Amino acid sequence: MKILLTLTMACGLMTTSFAYAAVDADAAMALLKKSDCFKCHSIDKKKEGPPYKEVAKKYKGKADAEDKLIKHITTKPMVEVDGKKEEHRAIKSSDPAEILNVVQFILSQ
Ligand code: HEC
Repeated sequence: MKILLTLTMACGLMTTSFAYAAVDADAAMALLKKSDCFKCHSIDKKKEGPPYKEVAKKYKGKADAEDKLIKHITTKPMVEVDGKKEEHRAIKSSDPAEILNVVQFILSQ
């Protein structure tokens, strides 16, 4: 009985952490579209900005990847577009969970 209980609890915990780790790709794509990010980015082709696949590669294995990207898409850092400095666009959301979902989506490309 005790073993069964422990097993059930372990399974429950696993399901919860999987649900947390799963990226909602549809929600991420919708928010990226709404925020006009695809004007300068695509998943795998170079436009004004680097493709998200390249961003994922650059940050692969880096512990601070999420923090860096959250900062990048919320604080409007200066970037160079067509040789001119301009403010990077900010994501159109103030919900930390939505923003983290977009960042995890980019990092999972
Ligand atoms: C006007 C063009 C433009 C738009 C619109 C734009 N970006 Fe960017 N983005 C860039 C450029 C240029 C860079 C490269 C900056 C650099 O490497 O200094 C970049 C870099 C990035 C990076 C990589 C940052 C890094 O540290 O390597 C991410 C992630 C990103 N953009 C996400 C987004 C998201 C999300 C949106 C929508 C809210 C967006 N971008 C909208 C031009 C744009």
